[in-house]
Amino acid sequence: MSDQRNSTIQTLRRLWPYVRPHRARMTVVLSATMLAMLCGLGIPLLTQRIVDGPIQNKETGPLPWLILGVLLLGLGEAVLFYIRRKVVARPAAEVEARMRFDLYQHLQRLPVAFHDRWQSGQLLSRATNDLTTVRRFVAFAIVFLIVNSLVVLIGLGIIAALSPWLLIVSLCGALPLIVISYFFEAKFKVVARKAQDQAGDLTTTVEESVLGIRVLKAFGRGPELSKRFLAQARELRTTELHKISILASLWSVLIVLPELSIAGMLGVGAIGIVNGWMTVGTLVAAVAVSAYLRWPIDSIGWLLAETNQAASALERYWEVIDSPVTVTGPATPVPLPAPVRGHVRFEGVRFAFEDGREVLSGVDLDLRPGETLALVGATGSGKTTLTALVPRLADVTGGRITIDGVDVRDFSLEDLRTVVGTAFEEPVLFSASVTENVGLGVPDVSEAAVREALRVAKAEEFVDALPWGLATRIGEQGLSLSGGQRQRLALARAVVGKPAVLVLDDPLSALDVHTEAEVEGALRRVLRDTTALVVAHRSSTVQLADRVALLVDGRIEAIGSHRELLDTNEEYKRLLSSMDDDLIEEEVAS
Ligand SMILES: Nc1ncnc2c1ncn2[C@@H]1O[C@H](COP(=O)(O)OP(=O)(O)OP(=O)(O)O)[C@@H](O)[C@H]1O
Ligand SMILES: [Mg+2]
Repeated sequence: MSDQRNSTIQTLRRLWPYVRPHRARMTVVLSATMLAMLCGLGIPLLTQRIVDGPIQNKETGPLPWLILGVLLLGLGEAVLFYIRRKVVARPAAEVEARMRFDLYQHLQRLPVAFHDRWQSGQLLSRATNDLTTVRRFVAFAIVFLIVNSLVVLIGLGIIAALSPWLLIVSLCGALPLIVISYFFEAKFKVVARKAQDQAGDLTTTVEESVLGIRVLKAFGRGPELSKRFLAQARELRTTELHKISILASLWSVLIVLPELSIAGMLGVGAIGIVNGWMTVGTLVAAVAVSAYLRWPIDSIGWLLAETNQAASALERYWEVIDSPVTVTGPATPVPLPAPVRGHVRFEGVRFAFEDGREVLSGVDLDLRPGETLALVGATGSGKTTLTALVPRLADVTGGRITIDGVDVRDFSLEDLRTVVGTAFEEPVLFSASVTENVGLGVPDVSEAAVREALRVAKAEEFVDALPWGLATRIGEQGLSLSGGQRQRLALARAVVGKPAVLVLDDPLSALDVHTEAEVEGALRRVLRDTTALVVAHRSSTVQLADRVALLVDGRIEAIGSHRELLDTNEEYKRLLSSMDDDLIEEEVAS
């Protein structure tokens, strides 16, 4: 358990760099809160003066001054609490925003393999729920944990000064409380973490079902998913209820013990007054102080709970932040050759996924500058995997890939990604304008460049027909566009920066025959000036290429012109005919 406590403290300590820039404000917050609590503590002492002075002596002379004192203390307390609220909002919000930004940035830098492994809902809930918990901790729990602990100590000091007997009675109430809080803390932390993880799973389910709504509706899977959602929501509810039941048992202890100690104080005090070793004012003041200390003492339990919740939220946050960025630029990158010729070589390239399965086992390819090479292979043969290695979405696990003789890992990532343009099988678009979507990889892209890229991708016409042209916001994931339109925008995005090397993963897959012919023409123009690796699923795409490489069992089995392969390679013929049989029959006939 002490290990666990240490880890809680360590987790919390890592928050300091975020709070540090706001330490001046936080000091103001702490001081204001402390002073406010002290004002509150002063009131029972003035009460003692009133009871033992004017009331005891039946002489009202000093009364107005004492009353005024009470009023001022009350006012001071109110004003200081107001200041606390005002001042704390900013640092807390900024800590939250800064941490969220860092998380986002880190998520951007993490390799694709990380995102394959992690559920997006878990990441979402870490970026939202968990950071809100952290903000609450910074704004509230940490401040009151410090202040209330001090106030309790000071309050007990005051009671001690009033009467040591009364202190002993109060301590009888306070000590068991501290011990119980200590044990409760460990139990609570486990449940708090479980609740946060389950909230993450729930977010994943919601997210998936929203993104996949078309598929789910089409396959009538809605009710089943609702059932799954309900089950997860129930699980989360059970955990939350467990959390609450732990809190409830703590609360009952928290409430009973101070009551008992006040009863004890009244008993001891009455005996003291009857026997003449205590004044009425002293007893009144001590009971008033005890009553005032109730909230600080009560609160320590749930402040600890809040602290634990924050610690486990932070733990979840650090888990992501601590995931290593495995694809990084070199310390001293090789500058880009000027001009980049675009000579791409795969030398004995191997790639295995984290589970150890090797998808590529020694790929050799040589793309001459300006050449277009089509990559053909059965589904699941590793074509997408191979293309992802060029812009370093993942790194080779053996061999190397060079551009103009330089290992791609020796360029800075920024440089590499300006040299290599990519379009993926699934044309992912963002809810942003057409210009932003197309210019994604080029900072401060000019409208002329976007237009040219759109023209090349045969997308200008339909973009101009959109309500606001280039400025039209494309719906989430581009769902408001047709598959072919999306693909053409993705193509425009790949070429807008005029990259020397283009990697296109089946760029024509979603086009109908008519537009395909049009885009093909456009593509032909694009491919003329760049070195291109194009994954092809159709003979029409293959025909755009100078040469074709056939990927089988993780190696390049054959390479040559479309004609040559068709004549000499049975596997190639079989593959292509399975892709689109009409065309191949024409081919063979001709
Ligand atoms: N993240 C991953 N972890 C483990 N295996 C994976 C992962 N991603 C893909 N694979 C596997 O790697 C193999 C190659 O996948 P890849 O997507 O490269 O195939 P492909 O040739 O592009 O197929 P298609 O023609 O259907 O697009 C497949 O067997 C696939 O199941
Ligand atoms: Mg693929």
